[in-house]
Amino acid sequence: MTLLPQTPQWQNLVAHWHELSHLHLHDLFTANPQRFAQLHAEAAGIFLDYSKNRITAKTLELLIDLATATGLTDAIHSMFAGVKINNTEQRPVLHVALRNRSKQQFVVDSKDVMPAVKSVLAHMEQFSNQVRTGAWRGYSGQVITDVVNIGIGGSNLGPLMVTKALGYYHDGPKVHFVSNVDATHIIETLKPLNPHTTLFIIASKTFTTQETLTNAITARNWLLAAYSQNEAAISKHFVAISTAAAKVAEFGIATEHMFEFWDWVGGRYSLWSAIGLPIALAIGMPRFYELLDGAYAMDHHFATAPMSKNLPVLLGLIGIWYINFGEFKSHAILPYDQYLRYFPAYLQQVDMESNGKYTTRHGHQVNYATGPIVWGASGTDGQHAFYQLIHQGTQVIPCDFIAAVHSHNEYGDHQAKLLANCLAQTEALMLGKDLAQVTAELQAQGYDSAAIASLAPHKVFLGNRPTNTILVDKFTPYTLGSLLALYEHKVFVQGSIWGINSFDQWGVELGKQLASVILKEIQDDTQVSSHDTSTNGLLQRIQRGRA
Ligand code: F6P
Repeated sequence: MTLLPQTPQWQNLVAHWHELSHLHLHDLFTANPQRFAQLHAEAAGIFLDYSKNRITAKTLELLIDLATATGLTDAIHSMFAGVKINNTEQRPVLHVALRNRSKQQFVVDSKDVMPAVKSVLAHMEQFSNQVRTGAWRGYSGQVITDVVNIGIGGSNLGPLMVTKALGYYHDGPKVHFVSNVDATHIIETLKPLNPHTTLFIIASKTFTTQETLTNAITARNWLLAAYSQNEAAISKHFVAISTAAAKVAEFGIATEHMFEFWDWVGGRYSLWSAIGLPIALAIGMPRFYELLDGAYAMDHHFATAPMSKNLPVLLGLIGIWYINFGEFKSHAILPYDQYLRYFPAYLQQVDMESNGKYTTRHGHQVNYATGPIVWGASGTDGQHAFYQLIHQGTQVIPCDFIAAVHSHNEYGDHQAKLLANCLAQTEALMLGKDLAQVTAELQAQGYDSAAIASLAPHKVFLGNRPTNTILVDKFTPYTLGSLLALYEHKVFVQGSIWGINSFDQWGVELGKQLASVILKEIQDDTQVSSHDTSTNGLLQRIQRGRA
């Protein structure tokens, strides 16, 4: 049990939710013509309209009171100061050091980490330039045309999403991503590739992850088959990114072909580190630095802006308002940009692996909701799939709509239509359409009163469905970097208020342990009876099928 729900700040918010429960968003807009002017904020290339939320000025005051009472300011300071805020692993959390573009030091255990950060960036720059210019050749002397990143979780989703999000800037070798232990992933990826022109990046913070090592071995076998088992070829076709130098060497990748990062970089926060190498290979290091610049600008904003104007704080607090007081437990991420189609999947890991926890940092079980279910897809595709439920379903799903004013591909009226759809959705979700409007529309269309009575209830939209709209001018490396840092810090704000450690992930361990037990059993043909009857039965069925 924790005392958070008993605090006066929490109780004030409970009472305030009831006060507002009868209000409709369209009434709030009608009552206050200044609502948009008052409820938007802008920083680091990001424009946030949060006026279409079920909040008032008082709501924000009360939420900021809660943030203050739970020590958010100190928590932010502690992260930037390198305090070991990942208490269950006794580590600081310093992804902000990876994009520190100032002269400021970041000290971990009495040592400034910035020289090491810069030296790895220099290594990435040198290597990516070599590959991109063709100076780095495969073992048989051919230029590298394809790069295959083998990694999973944070060693996949971040670089995959950014590489796709910045696809417009892609002028380097083709970059492929293999994550799943399902052989189909690597086999299908390798099918069209030429081993003589392919470079593998084995990306694993721990270098123990089953999926990644299994795929890495398959990749090595594929390469050696083309080089008559000559292991000397490995050095020209494999590099590694890891914190575990000894394990990389054991795998057969020389230390000079390893890009280091550190245990104070969480996997899901690691795209800013050497884990971003596929991004640098795709778009070049100058653009990678712009990505870091954007994130740095957002970091600076987060660390210095007052809470009432602080974008990550505002997003975090509005999320808490719905999750804890409105009990809206799901959150949709809807980028209106085809390049950002992997953004929801990336954010699922950032948010759900960080805050999907019921134990506080002090080891108590929470008695309030924590991390939401994060999901989504790019617009306008989602509109023709799941938006029905967002508009008329029984659950209220707060949504973030994300769009750019300008497309990289301005052609005809595509962008105008994309933006029109984005704004139309937020307006429709907010306003809804009442029975009188529906009836008038149907009458105008010539329906008789019996038809109107039967059809009208289906065409009514209750509205009052909350959204944030996030706009950038264009998705450049800079604005993308800023957007990603915005969400990283939003997650941190929420974790801090809930009193949880957003930087460990013990919840993924049990499944991994049991999988290693079951793997042996699947490979063995003796009858298994050590599990529950369901698992035993399924195992026996699989064994029979594979026999
Ligand atoms: O799924 C758990 C996890 O540990 C993630 O946190 C991490 O991003 C992923 O596995 C991959 O880990 P590694 O980079 O060590 O292979």
